[in-house]
Amino acid sequence: MQITRRSMFGMIGGTGLVAALPPGTLSKTLTTQAELDIRSASFSFIEGTTTEGLVSTHPGAPPPVIRMRKNVPFNVRVTNKLDDYTTMHWHGLRLANAMDGVPYLTQIPLGQGDSYDYELVSPDAGTFWYHPHCMTMDQMALGLTGILIVEEDSDPGFDAELPLNLRDFRLDGKGAWIDLWTARGAARGGTLGTFMTTNWTIEPTYHAPAGGLVRLRVAATDPTRVYKLYLPEADAKIIALDGHPLPTLVDMPTRTENALVLGPGQRADIAVLVPKGDGKRVTLFTDAPGPPRILAHLVSRGQSLHRSIADVSLLPPNPVKEPNLAEARREEFVFGWSPEGDFPNNGVCGSLPYTFWSINRTPWAGDAAQGVGPLATFNLNDSVVLRLRNESPNDHPIHLHGLAFRPIRSNKRELPPYWTDTVLLQREETVDIAFVADNPGDWAFHCHVIEHQKTGLAGFVRVLDG
Ligand code: C2O
Ligand code: CU
Ligand code: CU
Repeated sequence: MQITRRSMFGMIGGTGLVAALPPGTLSKTLTTQAELDIRSASFSFIEGTTTEGLVSTHPGAPPPVIRMRKNVPFNVRVTNKLDDYTTMHWHGLRLANAMDGVPYLTQIPLGQGDSYDYELVSPDAGTFWYHPHCMTMDQMALGLTGILIVEEDSDPGFDAELPLNLRDFRLDGKGAWIDLWTARGAARGGTLGTFMTTNWTIEPTYHAPAGGLVRLRVAATDPTRVYKLYLPEADAKIIALDGHPLPTLVDMPTRTENALVLGPGQRADIAVLVPKGDGKRVTLFTDAPGPPRILAHLVSRGQSLHRSIADVSLLPPNPVKEPNLAEARREEFVFGWSPEGDFPNNGVCGSLPYTFWSINRTPWAGDAAQGVGPLATFNLNDSVVLRLRNESPNDHPIHLHGLAFRPIRSNKRELPPYWTDTVLLQREETVDIAFVADNPGDWAFHCHVIEHQKTGLAGFVRVLDG
């Protein structure tokens, strides 16, 4: 019985903080529509203080977990109740271009009081997320990042499921905002937050069914931070990365040395065996500058379900077409530091008044700039290999909208076979990615460190229709 099993999650609390699970986290009923009113909100991150000026969809709560089913159309009506413009983007979904939420490229920005009906249909089951693509820096930093789940056709058999939305906030000790980004950060690795949270809570603790198998759906929705995840002393397997099932189960790292690295925008589905017996703990850590940090605790509760890690099986693969490498179109994109050129023109969608980054030595002229063409144009169903060359000493999580790709080769490391929408390029790393250009439209292509995206490291590719 899914209902009773799933409802075994309860929130115990954070470190003396107001604790909140995103709305929808425990809901078992699948609907086919949702309404997201984007508004300004407040939240108590620190006991006795209130942080005003968040951007959320539910007052006093993180953005809800949206849950839909593979191949079943889902309508989200997004209404802008802010004074600023916005759009919503569904990160990782291979959907129709008009639903992709990129201002000027796929839709006009939503002004005050405007609504847009996003018709989402996903051929893929997995863990995705959503965030604005207009006023992106501000609105993401102020809280507008939510998890989107696409369920498999048949229940993969977990006893419980827990979405973990990892993100920082830049607050002072009294819960007031400090600069959301800095020029110094934008020109280097990005500006890290000061409050590391999971589901907007510092070190939350969740009850989990003793002896049960829990599916963690971890999404790194922070604009900057690269997480290095591990689960000491836990029996756990990585079952999917970036919304796509792995072809083999991979042991979840138990130590910092071989941690699972998730850059901004990336996700991991992790099957965890909860210890038997009441009150036993499993803790998710990340390495960070300084000592390791706790992201969340699971505490066992109830009669043991006596599951075993061997009960975890592969998830059914998503229907991604295998590129033909022998006949692929080949292009090279170079990412570099280019502190010259005009400031990007993002129209009503908010610009950072700097240029630091470029693709093929040309900084993105801005979402609203006229006459900027695609980085490359492909015919429908072309097989494509893109060589992504990072000429800088910083990491860049490079993200392609609307298509799924395989990283096939790196000059620095072994790459396991998998599909993704975001590949984290390490300093001076070159990665070849391959895909079939089977979704027509203009697809944004950019670094997901938002300060890099907004200071030049952005562009788009075009897939012709037929
Ligand atoms: Cu997650 Cu262009 O976005
Ligand atoms: Cu995206
Ligand atoms: Cu970058």
